[in-house]
Amino acid sequence: MNNSENKVIDESIQGQALNVNSKNTGSKKLFLESYGCQMNFSDSEIVASILIDKGYSTTQNFEEADVIFVNTCAIREGAESKVRNRLNDFKRVKQKNPKALVGVLGCMAERLKAQFLEQEKLVDIVVGPDAYRDLPNLLEQAEDGHRAINVILSKEETYADLTPVRLGTNGVTAFISITRGCDNMCSFCVVPFTRGRERSRDPETILHEAKDLFAQGYREVTLLGQNVDSYLWTGGGLKKEQLTEEQKAASLNFAQLLEKVALLDPDLRVRFSTSHPKDMTDEVLHIMAKYENICNNIHLPVQSGNSNVLEKMNRGYSREWYLERMEAIRRIIPDCGISTDIITGFCGETEEEHKETISLMEKVQYDFAYMFMYSERPKTLAERKYTDDVPEEVKKRRLQEVVDLQRKHSGIRTEQGVGKIHRVLVEGFSKKSDDMLMGRNSQNSVVVFPREHYKKGDYVNVFVDACTSSTLIGKVVS
Ligand code: SAH
Ligand code: SF4
Ligand code: F3S
Repeated sequence: MNNSENKVIDESIQGQALNVNSKNTGSKKLFLESYGCQMNFSDSEIVASILIDKGYSTTQNFEEADVIFVNTCAIREGAESKVRNRLNDFKRVKQKNPKALVGVLGCMAERLKAQFLEQEKLVDIVVGPDAYRDLPNLLEQAEDGHRAINVILSKEETYADLTPVRLGTNGVTAFISITRGCDNMCSFCVVPFTRGRERSRDPETILHEAKDLFAQGYREVTLLGQNVDSYLWTGGGLKKEQLTEEQKAASLNFAQLLEKVALLDPDLRVRFSTSHPKDMTDEVLHIMAKYENICNNIHLPVQSGNSNVLEKMNRGYSREWYLERMEAIRRIIPDCGISTDIITGFCGETEEEHKETISLMEKVQYDFAYMFMYSERPKTLAERKYTDDVPEEVKKRRLQEVVDLQRKHSGIRTEQGVGKIHRVLVEGFSKKSDDMLMGRNSQNSVVVFPREHYKKGDYVNVFVDACTSSTLIGKVVS
């Protein structure tokens, strides 16, 4: 999903501890750390909201916490090892304060369920992504000395009525979940098992949340879902498959939702992630082209450039289909930033098939990419049906080739931004100096420039006259 630089993410996003500026008055202290994708970080904001409502205050120091929650990711083996290592650190807290509780939330909790309690003696509470409303209950059970678990997946839960407590926020950009779960069953992927069936959130609650954020000074929202293109609000209850043509026509699809959010205010930027190549329609592209405040940026994971591998991955599209979608983007939104996800060394991937990923990258020239070696996940279709037979060193070498090529392409794409004026939403100080501000252009590239009298939340036009490999550098012009 959305990120500022190209990187190989082997173990998903780094763990990030809770950082909240809201009412910190409760007597019991909560430490919450999140791993994985933006949806997980967004869920942590729901968890924080539920617990602050129950009188908890927050801390960024786990050693003084009464409750430690880790919101986990199961996407690759590396993501899980990271969490297990982290749990070791929390042993110290229990030694000092035997009453302290440790809870594992999210995708790894859902995947391992009660096994977690058996394997990790330290853990008191295990909660899956659809059971966060039950947290206060589960905490009470755990306080009474029982081990508490709720990993029930729901077909309806979207936490639509809860107001997330924004964590680690810059006060300018925020995420809004629009769907939960995934119905796609890509053969490599654990998400359908950890997050359950896909469901769309009531658009009124999405619009309300966006409006509320704008009123608080936020200037950009990113609509989140595993496959945003399959968003469909049918008035509640009914699944897509059950709809008559008439009911389908009366329901709200992703393009229509996007338009409604864009219409809230021209000064509210809108982004979304993740698009799925099999479902991304021209209707969405036309809406993007129509509204200035919908950012020209699409994250369109390809996974592989070879049709045979894509079929084994059960992605629902071929190389040709993907390239046709790319052409549609270039035609309808000529200056669109495009990023992707790539997996190297999937079951049976030959050298020729790998070369097709390389040649597809050459054709597209992505702005950014997240690149991974295939990691077999228990219970997935690929685990049951195919052999994970590409040797580790071959996976690694192919990954390196992909990474090197992407680095070159990112450099080229960044250089193309030099000599032009970019509309930038200011997000805060640049990493290197408080005399410089940073923001992003519509394509999601980072732009830095002298601070002068500008502040975060401002829109500025920056003339870019220099760049590093991934950052544009310039000055504000009127
Ligand atoms: N819903 C998004 C992806 C969510 S997971 C989509 O369909 O594109 C984020 C990325 O992790 C995937 O795009 C994929 O590139 C990678 N990934 C998922 N499962 C993986 C596995 N078993 N091994 C390696 N990478 C994996
Ligand atoms: Fe996983 Fe595929 Fe769903 Fe993405 S679309 S979450 S890769 S099953
Ligand atoms: Fe990880 Fe779950 Fe997201 S497995 S990538 S945290 S949906």
